[in-house]
Amino acid sequence: MKAVHVPVLLLLLLLRPVYILGKCIFDEVQSSVSVVSSPIAQTSSSDWAFNANGAKSQVIAAEGHRRTPLQTTRTPLHAKSLHPHPHRPKRMDKEMIKDIVEPQPMRIKTWIPRESPIISQWERERVEAALSGAISTVSNLLSVIRVPDRLLLNRDINKYCRFIWRNRSSANYNRCGRANEKYRSEHCLGLTIPDDHLRGYDVYPHPDQAALRTLKPAGPGVPDTDFILYVSTQSTEKCRADSSVLAYSAHCETDTEGRPVAGAMVICREPLSVKEFSHEGMVQTVIHELFHILGFSRELFSTWRDCSLSCQMGVGCCSHGHVTNTDETGQMRLYSPSVRKALHTHLNSTHAELGAPLENQDAGSGGLSSHWEARVLQGSIMTAVLGEPSLVRIDLVTLSALRDTGWYSVNFSQAQSLLWGEGEGVLFGSLSTCNQPSSFFCTGSGLGCHYLHLHKGECQSDKYLEGCRIYKPLANGSECWKEENEGGGSEDEWSEEIYHTDSRCFLSTLIRQDQSSISVSVAGRCYRHRCTGRNRYQIQLKGSDWLHCPAGGSIEVTGYRGAVYCPDKRLCYYHEAISLISPHHPFNSAQLFTASPAIQRDHSLSKQPMPPLSSPNSDPGLHLSMSRYRTLMTVTVLGVTAVLSTPILIIVYRKCCSDTVRVHALRDPPAVVHLQAA
Ligand SMILES: *[C@@H]1O[C@H](CO)[C@@H](O)[C@H](O)[C@H]1NC(C)=O
Ligand SMILES: *[C@@H]1O[C@H](CO)[C@@H](O)[C@H](O)[C@H]1NC(C)=O
Ligand SMILES: *[C@@H]1O[C@H](CO)[C@@H](O)[C@H](O)[C@H]1NC(C)=O
Ligand SMILES: *[C@@H]1O[C@H](CO)[C@@H](O)[C@H](O)[C@H]1NC(C)=O
Ligand SMILES: [Zn+2]
Repeated sequence: MKAVHVPVLLLLLLLRPVYILGKCIFDEVQSSVSVVSSPIAQTSSSDWAFNANGAKSQVIAAEGHRRTPLQTTRTPLHAKSLHPHPHRPKRMDKEMIKDIVEPQPMRIKTWIPRESPIISQWERERVEAALSGAISTVSNLLSVIRVPDRLLLNRDINKYCRFIWRNRSSANYNRCGRANEKYRSEHCLGLTIPDDHLRGYDVYPHPDQAALRTLKPAGPGVPDTDFILYVSTQSTEKCRADSSVLAYSAHCETDTEGRPVAGAMVICREPLSVKEFSHEGMVQTVIHELFHILGFSRELFSTWRDCSLSCQMGVGCCSHGHVTNTDETGQMRLYSPSVRKALHTHLNSTHAELGAPLENQDAGSGGLSSHWEARVLQGSIMTAVLGEPSLVRIDLVTLSALRDTGWYSVNFSQAQSLLWGEGEGVLFGSLSTCNQPSSFFCTGSGLGCHYLHLHKGECQSDKYLEGCRIYKPLANGSECWKEENEGGGSEDEWSEEIYHTDSRCFLSTLIRQDQSSISVSVAGRCYRHRCTGRNRYQIQLKGSDWLHCPAGGSIEVTGYRGAVYCPDKRLCYYHEAISLISPHHPFNSAQLFTASPAIQRDHSLSKQPMPPLSSPNSDPGLHLSMSRYRTLMTVTVLGVTAVLSTPILIIVYRKCCSDTVRVHALRDPPAVVHLQAA
């Protein structure tokens, strides 16, 4: 090893822990928070809409609170045009049309409570950059019926009040009879909510008399805000207990429709100061936490509402009914309509029991988790562990879940393709099938490529994979797209690898013919690639020409023994699948999520003219037909995996005919490419 490589190696070693963000502790945190919901009003029966199940949707604002036009009219969030229900009274139609408000990008405001510890300038910069990146991403994805004027939060009557009138026939039913003298303020995850953001509170000393004592007047509220996030950067016990926790959060208040309107987030201080701090990782963590507190929470699944036009009962949204259930294998799944549709499209299966599986490794006593099952939705931003930032996707299934809350309309055009499991059918990721090698799962502990082919990988399992194994990025220097990994030691001298922004990982057994004494095992190698069409690309080894690499097949290279395998439907397939994050620009990646769907820094993609790629758009059902490719892939992948399934495959060329590893795509003749001796 040359001396010049030593600093690189040290850096790579230090980089290691950054990719392991550890468990998300959201469910544990949320369950410790008592959520303030809008008090139920005493209303006349006409103020309630009933759905078929008898579940009621509340139509009137809470008692004692100013009614606003928005709170008195339900608007189907996803209704683009209004199709009046035949049985709906005319008066209601007019009212609805008058009051209809299109959902608009969500306005999320942050507030740093007074008691939040003083942090240094650079800590603040890191936190603010992460928050603003995450918030602009979420605001671009989610739209809401905006809160008119000002957001004003409720106080918890059980806290400020020692005695509540509980006689249904008294005029002051459910109002406070006597104040709790010890009451000072409202808190959200331990952070103080300023009185300015809160409604006032009154006491009614007599059960039937209107006479009231106002103990605190209403504050001015928070203008132009649909959600307020109280943020504190601290070193708390929870942060210190697990160094892989970057932040945690909870929602603290819901509005009359059940939508969370206030939440709190603690950003752990320690991870901000580590050398390998990753802005992108932090942004993703904040987005992940925001998705939880905005609705992707096991405590809120049962309050999600169906606001589609198929909800038959007129003005309101109705209940989805039960959205979670276990399938016949005992796997807990989420069965809300858009989620099912998105997953059916993703896996290409319409199996009745196919809902989106929830993580069973961090499920609570009710069997519910607020995370997707990692075996099936690996790479999604809502799995329990976020991996390396370049491998995390804001996927269609997650966005569909947010839509199914009924509180948001979602801009699906910004969804990022998951690739993981695409078209693989209902059994994909199940414990019964994952041990059969496929292009996603591996067996043994050999070397290969992460399924997105950005990284070299090693076949491994983890707690959430439950024995299923996948190629995970190597601990150090596995990014093919990082030029500084060149010479980092994970490549072999004779393998002609190139680390470059265009480089991707390829399974390879190539070895120069003059290296006759070396036996080669299959491993992931970094070669450059450039797109020549959809799912068509060329690769380049060090000193070689560009060589056509038939997707699903393999090539041999003159002057070398062995072969390079060309992955099918991984490269030059989706624009946004390759959303590389530049390690050199720690603060510029807010654009990564907020830019147009074609977010990518893949040079070869942007240089090459491309046929139109399928980008998941507003209809999750719109995906390009892939049957043509699937047939081919099945055949060729079988060939490859037959070879790769041996735990550690050593191909010794002197002994064995290379036929065992030569796998060619059916539609391309064996592509033997002649290479000038390098
Ligand atoms: C409830 O209030 C009504 C009217 O104020 C009164 O007649 C009735 O006795 C009360 N019931 C109870 C259980 O206190
Ligand atoms: C990679 O990291 C492992 C331990 O984490 C270390 O043993 C190994 O030497 C490192 N390899 C290189 C090439 O840096
Ligand atoms: C969705 O996002 C894209 C990209 O940001 C934007 O061009 C488009 O106008 C958005 N659509 C809606 C309905 O907001
Ligand atoms: C989906 O599955 C059906 C049969 O189950 C198959 O005919 C079709 O080609 C598949 N579509 C895709 C896009 O994989
Ligand atoms: Zn989480």
